[in-house]
Amino acid sequence: MTIDEAQFAGSCTRVSQKPSRKLPEFAFIGRSNVGKSSLINMLCGNRKLAKTSQTPGKTKLINHFLINDSWYLVDLPGYGFAKISKQGREELRKMINDYIANSEEMVLLFVLIDCRHDITRIDRDFLAGLGENGIPFAIIFTKCDKLGPNALKAQLERNREILSEQWEELPPMFTSSAETGAGKDEILDYIRKYI
Ligand code: GTP
Ligand code: MG
Repeated sequence: MTIDEAQFAGSCTRVSQKPSRKLPEFAFIGRSNVGKSSLINMLCGNRKLAKTSQTPGKTKLINHFLINDSWYLVDLPGYGFAKISKQGREELRKMINDYIANSEEMVLLFVLIDCRHDITRIDRDFLAGLGENGIPFAIIFTKCDKLGPNALKAQLERNREILSEQWEELPPMFTSSAETGAGKDEILDYIRKYI
């Protein structure tokens, strides 16, 4: 599948305010700064579509992007960002969880993890919550341009082991780079199967 048309369709903080057209949604989530907005831009071939930043915590709203006039990519705020107040963090957590639990059009959640690091406790808790609520998800290991092929392979293997402690069956997994475009075809083909 290719993305021929991508346009910003609005920001919201809750399901009741999301774009009124009922179309399948594929959402991106992960810790702040993991590269959610950059990945959305890479998939859409438009570096200016979703705002990216070197400062974590850039995306504080739920942003919808209408793709090929037939489905939405959803950019969710990052979770687990330490540098905002406890209350701010709790509000974001609630916003994210409410949206995930209540958006009827949500088909699949892509959980992004920085390929350079071990999956953290925060990520594992988040994944556990998805499992408990029966929310389908896949994992994308981002920024794979930052590791050489051998280091990448070793770190992926390590993360597979960490996930195996938690999950009997591993979720679908992808690697991506917003710099090189790696993973684009695989991720879009995977989405295509659902629409
Ligand atoms: P929040 O909205 O703050 O939660 O962050 P985000 O997850 O949307 O991250 P964003 O896309 O803004 O990227 C954060 C930083 O990582 C930016 O400086 C990006 O340029 C950089 N970055 C994102 N993806 C990649 C990638 O694949 N490779 C490299 N080398 N850098 C990346
Ligand atoms: Mg962002």
